[in-house]
Amino acid sequence: MHMREILRVAPVIPVLMIERLEHAVPLARALSAGGLCVLEVTMRTPVALAAKTVSFPVLPGVMTPAEVIAARPHGFTALKLFAAKQAGGVGMLKAWAWPFADVVFCPTGGVSLETAPEFLALPNVACVGGSWAAPALPHRIDF
Ligand code: 3PG
Repeated sequence: MHMREILRVAPVIPVLMIERLEHAVPLARALSAGGLCVLEVTMRTPVALAAKTVSFPVLPGVMTPAEVIAARPHGFTALKLFAAKQAGGVGMLKAWAWPFADVVFCPTGGVSLETAPEFLALPNVACVGGSWAAPALPHRIDF
C-alpha cells in the first residue's frame, strides 16, 4: 500500500512513545480495534525500534519548504509536517497548497483534538498525528 493510501486509512495517527516493549502489541491492538489502524512509533525510547519489528513504510518529516523540495526528488510526496503548529499550522499548509500541489501532509506537533478538524479540512492534509490519541504512561505510579 502506498503511503498516500495509508495516510487516508484513518483521520488520526496516534504518535506513540513506547516505554515498555510488552505494551507495544496490546496498545497497537487496542488502538486498531478503536479504528486507529495507522500508528507512529517515535524513536524516543530505548525499546522503540524493537516495538515494531516488521518492515514499515517511511513518512519523512519536514518543517520547511527547503525540506519539502529535498524530499520530492526521492519520491516522497507524502510527508509528516512537524512541528505543525510552530511551523505555521493551517495558514502555512494553505500557503504550501499551490507550490507543493503534488504533496500531501500529515501535520503533527501541537495539533489538538480541537484544532484537528481545521487541518483535516485542507485538501493537502491526509490525516493528522497527535500524542493525545495515546498518551504516554507515567514512568511510576505512586499510591
Ligand atoms: C510528534 O512526534 O509528532 C509530536 O511529538 C506529536 O506532537 P504532540 O505531542 O503535540 O501531539
